[in-house]
Amino acid sequence: MTKPLNTAIAWKTADPATPTLADTRGRPLRDLRISVTDRCNFRCTYCMPKEVYGRDFQFLERSQLLSFDEIHRLVKVFHGHGIEKVRITGGEPLVRRQLEKLIGMLAQEPGLDLTLTTNGSLLKQKAQALRDAGLNRVTVSLDSLDDAVFRAMNDVDFPVAKVLEGIEEADRVGLKPIKINMVVKRGMNDQSVVDMARFFKGSGHILRFIEFMDVGNTNGWKMGHVVPSRELVSRINAELPIEPADPNYVGEVAERWRYKDGSGEVGFISSVTQAFCKDCTRARLSAEGSLYTCLFATEGTDLRDLIRSGANDDELAAAIAKVWRVRSDRYSEIRTADTAKLRKVEMSYIGG
Ligand code: GTP
Ligand code: 5AD
Ligand code: SF4
Ligand code: SF4
Repeated sequence: MTKPLNTAIAWKTADPATPTLADTRGRPLRDLRISVTDRCNFRCTYCMPKEVYGRDFQFLERSQLLSFDEIHRLVKVFHGHGIEKVRITGGEPLVRRQLEKLIGMLAQEPGLDLTLTTNGSLLKQKAQALRDAGLNRVTVSLDSLDDAVFRAMNDVDFPVAKVLEGIEEADRVGLKPIKINMVVKRGMNDQSVVDMARFFKGSGHILRFIEFMDVGNTNGWKMGHVVPSRELVSRINAELPIEPADPNYVGEVAERWRYKDGSGEVGFISSVTQAFCKDCTRARLSAEGSLYTCLFATEGTDLRDLIRSGANDDELAAAIAKVWRVRSDRYSEIRTADTAKLRKVEMSYIGG
């Protein structure tokens, strides 16, 4: 696949007044992904398999979760370090009660791109309240339009139609641009790829195909399950011609391709076959307030304890800076069959 290159683009620019905090590879801190709950109403087989996340699974207690005030405070401190985007994730973030209240608090921070990743199941009910609270846009996970395939993948028999209604409502209230994330697993939903492309082509929504990753330890990942993006590009191109497009910013995880007939774009997120660690500016905060510097991390740094033991904002900022300055993560660049077996944090705990 030809990698689109554009030397004119640069890191997303932080306020010039803010000194840049960089890690050991010179990567600035620009995005904060916040998991607001480790719970989810789906049991996607590649993320929260029922055998592991069954009735007896111990999810976090309410008292263990960061409160909205604690999250807001941390976001202000991270903002001081130059973050420009906050993505709310889970588990499924919309199962956290009154999430719109948190969105309203975070929306007071000027200049932040405030967005959320959801499975779409509760989006129809929640979209208007989220928009009114100040959310900018949403990304919706949807793995197939084939109802039987989708129900089997979410493993709670949830119908495609309801997710599509959620997407429509998000569109109606203006949570745009809407991105649709499809995790592609060979033998499971890869036959749905061209149908998905055809369905969203011309809709104004941006469909992105994600290579199935070896996050966590419970999803039974094997290299043979991964459909390389370049294979998807040629499958789609054969029916719906596409051409590479320039990235919007350095470090954009999705490689953009546009339809030659001008009817929109699709994205390919190739964490397995084309690692993008070199430009990774993302920090992740778990629902219980641990800071992780990589999706594949084995350990986090507890910020909740620091907050609850009375640390002031400067102390919090210093703790975050200390973690980021020594960061050297590049898991996807050095992935092997052995690293795939390491004890890693689960995706439902840390967010996508
Ligand atoms: P926008 O450009 O802001 O719309 O979002 P994004 O491109 O960051 O995409 P999003 O947050 O929706 O991430 C999409 C998917 O890409 C996630 O669900 C993950 O599967 C994968 N992903 C995102 N960030 C990383 C990362 O840092 N490392 C790896 N390996 N995968 C990532
Ligand atoms: N590989 C790739 N993407 C994954 N997601 C969850 N688990 C995986 C995995 N193993 C995606 C979800 C959603 C986002 C939160 O992360 O489908 O789009
Ligand atoms: Fe829930 Fe998303 Fe994981 Fe599916 S991928 S189980 S919707 S958190
Ligand atoms: Fe960033 Fe880790 Fe993903 Fe690489 S593997 S892009 S360092 S989160």
